[in-house]
Amino acid sequence: MAGAFEYVSLSVAARLGKRDPPSKPNATSRMPVTLLIAPDDAGIARAAALLKAGELVAFPTETVYGLGADARDDRAVARIFEAKGRPRFNPLIVHVADLDPARRVAAFTPEAEALASAFWPGPLTLVLPLKPEAGISPLVTAGLDMVALRMPAHPLARALLAAFGGPLAGPSANPSGRVSPTRAEHVLDGLGGRIAAVLDGGPCAVGVESTIVGLDGAARLLRPGGLPAEAIEACLGRPLVAAGEAARPTSPGQLASHYAPEAPLRLNAGKTRPGEVLLGFGPGAAGARLNLSPAGDLVEAAANLFHYLRALDAEGKPIAVSPIPETGLGRAINDRLRRAAAPR
Ligand code: TXA
Ligand code: MG
Repeated sequence: MAGAFEYVSLSVAARLGKRDPPSKPNATSRMPVTLLIAPDDAGIARAAALLKAGELVAFPTETVYGLGADARDDRAVARIFEAKGRPRFNPLIVHVADLDPARRVAAFTPEAEALASAFWPGPLTLVLPLKPEAGISPLVTAGLDMVALRMPAHPLARALLAAFGGPLAGPSANPSGRVSPTRAEHVLDGLGGRIAAVLDGGPCAVGVESTIVGLDGAARLLRPGGLPAEAIEACLGRPLVAAGEAARPTSPGQLASHYAPEAPLRLNAGKTRPGEVLLGFGPGAAGARLNLSPAGDLVEAAANLFHYLRALDAEGKPIAVSPIPETGLGRAINDRLRRAAAPR
């Protein structure tokens, strides 16, 4: 095992070293080197072990490389947004090994069953009602009650999912605003030094992202992709509704619906006003009912965000929120808080 693994990890260390001169080991930098993991049994076991430990591992699918994290681990999912530098918590696709685990995560309508049996494994993502008992981190769905599910066909993705033994959240493995990676080298170019490892599967066969179909009511094409819409329409026996024609678009970018608490939310609150409960951040938030991160750690705060908003919302009192810095993951946290606080 050590042979293949070490050979490739050294070659990556050399690559990174060329751009970033080797610096002193630094206790605060989490992963100075991203491992390039060979696509053999030992490599898959290593990648699965890193994922079980809450690390980020990019993996090949037939469409593009995904940035995998345990979909049930709030912190691991928060790290996805940190590594990609996403200014928003867009919902993420959950990758599953098989139909049974898929049915544990989402409620399958007859149309979903038909599409899954026709096109899975393959470049099709279905957006379906989330089963809360599946334990998927609310960061994965950005607090929504619909979840995007996909069963990839790539043998390495399937082997990794089987070895990991659970659902993997996985957006495309590129920094926010850049194109999706279709080779392990692309992943390293964009995210080298920011993630634990890349499972090297060579070039992706399809090269564009999966087609996304929403199935809450009318079947809607939320994103064209690797599976032609015509094939989906032939299977359903009726045309797909274009996302733009839908009454309430829920797709990315045009994500009109987003999680919002019932209780009014007041941001950048220095002190609570009578009747309010405080959602704190950082060591200064004395008297906070809940503190997103007493240490002021933005990854921890992101991991707790939707849980704590729901918990405070259940108390039925107005919520004051401590100031959160507009840097790194703080931008995504503030984006969500502003939407949640917007008048409805
Ligand atoms: O081929 C693919 O789909 C690749 C591979 C890695 O699986 N993944 C991918 O993920 O392209 P990403 O995050 O780059 O794009 C997923 C899209 C996002 O635009 C997101 O907004 C949308 O799926 N999405 C995810 N969950 C959703 C949900 N619950 N409702 C609506 N849209 C959702
Ligand atoms: Mg993407």
